[in-house]
Amino acid sequence: MSKIFISCALPYANGPCHLGHLRSTYLPADIYARYNRMIGNDVLMVCATDEHGTPIAVKADNENKKPIEISKRYHDMIAEDIRSMNISLDSFTRTTDKKHYDIAQNFFLDLYNKGYIYKKDITQLYCENCEKFLPDRYVQGICPVCGAEARGDHCEKCGRALEPTELEEPECLTCGNRPVIKDSYQYFFKLSEFQDDIEDYINNNDNLPANVKNYALNWLKEGLKDWVLTRDMDWGIPVPLDDALGKVIYVWGEAFLGYISSASQWSEHSGKKWEDYWNDYVVHFIGKDIIYHHAIFWPALLDAYGCKLPDNIYAGEFLSLEGQKMSTSKNWVVWISDFVEEFEPDLLRYYLTINAPLNKDTDFSWKDFQRRNNDGLADVIGNFLHRTFTFTHKFFDGKIPEYKNPSKEDLDFEIAIKELPDKVGEYISNYEFRDGLLEIFRVSKMGNKYFNDQEPWKAVKEDMQKAANTLYLSNQLAKVLAIVLKPYIPTKADEIAKIINIDIPEKWDDAKEFLPVGHQINKAKPLFKKIEDDVIDDEIKKLEENLKDSMEEDSMSDIITIDEFDKVEIKIGQIKEAEKIEKSDKLLKLQVDIGDEVRQIVAGLAKFYSPDELIDRKVAVVVNLKPAKLFGTLSEGMILATGESGALLTPDECEIGERIQ
Ligand code: MF3
Ligand code: ZN
Repeated sequence: MSKIFISCALPYANGPCHLGHLRSTYLPADIYARYNRMIGNDVLMVCATDEHGTPIAVKADNENKKPIEISKRYHDMIAEDIRSMNISLDSFTRTTDKKHYDIAQNFFLDLYNKGYIYKKDITQLYCENCEKFLPDRYVQGICPVCGAEARGDHCEKCGRALEPTELEEPECLTCGNRPVIKDSYQYFFKLSEFQDDIEDYINNNDNLPANVKNYALNWLKEGLKDWVLTRDMDWGIPVPLDDALGKVIYVWGEAFLGYISSASQWSEHSGKKWEDYWNDYVVHFIGKDIIYHHAIFWPALLDAYGCKLPDNIYAGEFLSLEGQKMSTSKNWVVWISDFVEEFEPDLLRYYLTINAPLNKDTDFSWKDFQRRNNDGLADVIGNFLHRTFTFTHKFFDGKIPEYKNPSKEDLDFEIAIKELPDKVGEYISNYEFRDGLLEIFRVSKMGNKYFNDQEPWKAVKEDMQKAANTLYLSNQLAKVLAIVLKPYIPTKADEIAKIINIDIPEKWDDAKEFLPVGHQINKAKPLFKKIEDDVIDDEIKKLEENLKDSMEEDSMSDIITIDEFDKVEIKIGQIKEAEKIEKSDKLLKLQVDIGDEVRQIVAGLAKFYSPDELIDRKVAVVVNLKPAKLFGTLSEGMILATGESGALLTPDECEIGERIQ
């Protein structure tokens, strides 16, 4: 018997769960956990909500709430989503738990004392308007590597981890200003020292699936750089050092420890040691967007601490929706909580597993969901079970009939039934969850064909033993199905067991024992129903309406009323003085006469005009803009000009001080 430590990537507590989370992480982890428990392994499956980091802080700012209020709200929702999908976690905690703070701070201190964390002066982006440093997602810009739009810590397009200062054309996410670069200091993790260790780890770990290996090796080729492990923020775990006031541990420097803190909270009340599980076999289930973090950062941190590295990292690829990338902001998602209002959770577990192997991107479409359910679950598995049970009642009083003088067909079918559990088990232990389910499907199909070929409805009149053999074996397959389906669709599997009138199977080996002759089964009831067209059409309509709503909101937000426009006060001004601003190749400092006063305005015109060319030019000026400091210079207004060419609007025939309206 082994002990297995299974973790699911910690969901950010800034939104509920949708199909994507389930498909890449929770469902595969759950299938693996349930199977391993059934073969007698001792499993500890943990997760927690990831509650720090800028997205939650930004959301809290926007809603005028405290970050902890936001994260509590979503923690509760996610807990309910996970429960409703029957994900059999042993522990689901929070990274805001006291235990987690202790573990994370001790871990940080340990690495600091060993010299793996050091203090270094750096430059950071700073927004002069908001008067704060801009870590991670407080800033957006262009990824320097692939050119896609990216947030300060991560490019979604190419999957790279970034430093905010690497971004091109950075913008403060709060106010839209271009941040400046300012001196500061942070604590760094000596990731570069682990280059060789991590290379060894990735190259010599045969468990790692190809996608994880390939991504990791590509990044390793670029050479590992030291990694900033702290941030200037209020929301987060304080850096446990005296000279680090106002600094917190970067969310990715502590979230991993959620695996440990969740496990250790479990230890406290179970009385079992989580370390025993970790030291035996650890597997992390994650989505493919965080392979970098799990295959490189995390093993390096563990290595520095002196702890065993994960045995396996299993990364589910992406799920799209109706052929388009899912997007929570456009509401192009199916939330778990909405799904379970309409359908049984097992239908989704079935569909997401059979749809595609985990290491391939795939699509959720409602029509395909309906087809897979109707043609697969209902027509093949459901139909086989229903025929078996009703026939057993009709002709054998609901008792398992005697099996005698089997024919060649009987024997072939019997072998297929007996081989099924091992085959499925083998697939699941190799993380080939879809193949396991396909095998179940194949044998159920075979069961249907066997049933048809044997024609027991005729045989009862001509050759009773033939009919008895057919129903004997069909019931045996039904029992095996109750067991091998359990990791995939646990509720349905238990319902099958109830009809067969056996204890809910707990062990995979239960499948080896056939039902005894004379065993009484319960009344049949339809287990799998077809999904009607109108139900699916409703779902598609809902989805499209969501999208339309969010598009309308978007386009509405571009339109302003006349009153809103009226707030902008634009006057005719005349440039009186102009000079270059030191250290900036774009900005000029101007003194502009707007009739009743002379304003100092910083304008991005240096690329287009020399200061002399501007003297005496008449320009349009926004005069009621909130003053801002650019490169330390006060600017009290804005000159209107085109962005590309810097062409000025030249209202030469207007009087200075006139208002444009
Ligand atoms: N919250 C992160 C995400 O959703 C995942 C954290 S996983 C952990 O991308 F390893 F850090 F725990
Ligand atoms: Zn700002």
